[in-house]
Amino acid sequence: MSEHGIILRGAEVIDGTKRLRFRADVAIDDDRIAAIGDLSDATADREIDAAGRIVCPGFIDVHTHDDRMLRDAGDMTPKVSQGVTTVVAGNCGISLAPFIASDPVMAPLDLVGQAGDYRYPSFAAYVDDLEHHAPASNAALMVGHGTLRLASMSDTQRPASADETAVMKEKVSEAMAAGAVGFSTGLEYPPARKCETSEVIELASAAAAAGGVYATHMRSYHLEARSSYDEAARIGREAGLPVVISHFHCHVEERPEVCVEALGWYETSREAGEDIIADAYPYEASSTSILPEFVEKRTKTLVTWSKPHPEMNGRYLDDIAGEWGMDRKEAALRLAPGGAIYFGRDEENVKRLMAHPAILIGSDGIPMNRHPHPRLWGTFPRVLGHYARDLGLMEMEDAIHRMTAASADRFGLKGRGRIEVGCAADIVVFDPATIIDKADFMDPEQPAAGIDHVFVNGAEVWNNDGHTGAAPGRVVGQRAA
Ligand code: ZN
Ligand code: CU
Repeated sequence: MSEHGIILRGAEVIDGTKRLRFRADVAIDDDRIAAIGDLSDATADREIDAAGRIVCPGFIDVHTHDDRMLRDAGDMTPKVSQGVTTVVAGNCGISLAPFIASDPVMAPLDLVGQAGDYRYPSFAAYVDDLEHHAPASNAALMVGHGTLRLASMSDTQRPASADETAVMKEKVSEAMAAGAVGFSTGLEYPPARKCETSEVIELASAAAAAGGVYATHMRSYHLEARSSYDEAARIGREAGLPVVISHFHCHVEERPEVCVEALGWYETSREAGEDIIADAYPYEASSTSILPEFVEKRTKTLVTWSKPHPEMNGRYLDDIAGEWGMDRKEAALRLAPGGAIYFGRDEENVKRLMAHPAILIGSDGIPMNRHPHPRLWGTFPRVLGHYARDLGLMEMEDAIHRMTAASADRFGLKGRGRIEVGCAADIVVFDPATIIDKADFMDPEQPAAGIDHVFVNGAEVWNNDGHTGAAPGRVVGQRAA
């Protein structure tokens, strides 16, 4: 009889807490980390030689739109192949529940699904679905403001009435009771643009009462970024809950210095005691729905999907507009509904965000696109291989902390994000010399290199041979440890 289920032998452990790496064996029993240290006298059913490798907590992707992938493509290959063991879904005000859609859904809800995909009368029904058809990764779920507005208001192009706000607040409470970890908004997007701050505070207070967080895609990341940031801080203060600023950056054409200024407000407000943290992803381009007003602001735009013109997937908007003999905005109107990648961020700013000690890593990947942004497959290996190892912008210990323990702490994922006895055995074994993203803008669906083993709740989901077929994921946070 061996003592342990699995022993990972001889690795350098980076435990997620920022502590310097140390040499140790790590034992896994069932779904837990059972022992860490010199285990040369112990035996296990399965022993893995991890010499020369890093063993660290599985990555927590704090910014995802994986709501439907969790259900419909539960192998979660784009995520587990890069070492992600938990995804936080329901960002940017978009959640698959609670909403039964009968008409085509308004952008950006179509990033996550079409009318038939929105079929849950309650958040509990969605959670139940995931628990009965477990995905390969864990899921921490938020309930989205845009979804609530479309489900509860006859017209979203105005502030909610007191009655509508009360109905939405009830739904936030229901979601939290069903296991959600927080409430998200997408205030820049059509379903929420017309809301007042007081409406958001009211709804966020229901999440606060249940110990949740408030994650926000702000009203503006452009000229009004400062007032949008202040609005987010006010919502956190008045509703009384921790804030996550989603996909932090600030982009004004010709004025790359605004991103540095924005990091300045961020640091100042954190020093003043605001309970705010941000997430960011390691690329110079963003991605969302095709929205004509977005197209006007950006120079280079790549089409990721188009319902009326699928033949244009993976092509540049300027080329399409040229062929059609029209301007960019007209071409965008013709391509919608659809999705796009918007270039034009300043690479120096991307480096600043990646190196910042108080910024969590979140991919913002959009999984069901026909030609997705490469962040979906490459975010975590890119931060570790490109920004930490190759450019030397930060230590791997620091980068991993912002993918694991710091992320678990912010979203209330107890017992996760650390290599520590008793913690959930969500573990990545990777080669620090070769880890790197392979997905790029032209060929975006490529597993990363250097990821040797990925365990979720003690079960191996990915290794050098590919996906193992295991589906050990759980809905985590709030109710579960
Ligand atoms: Zn967003
Ligand atoms: Cu997002």
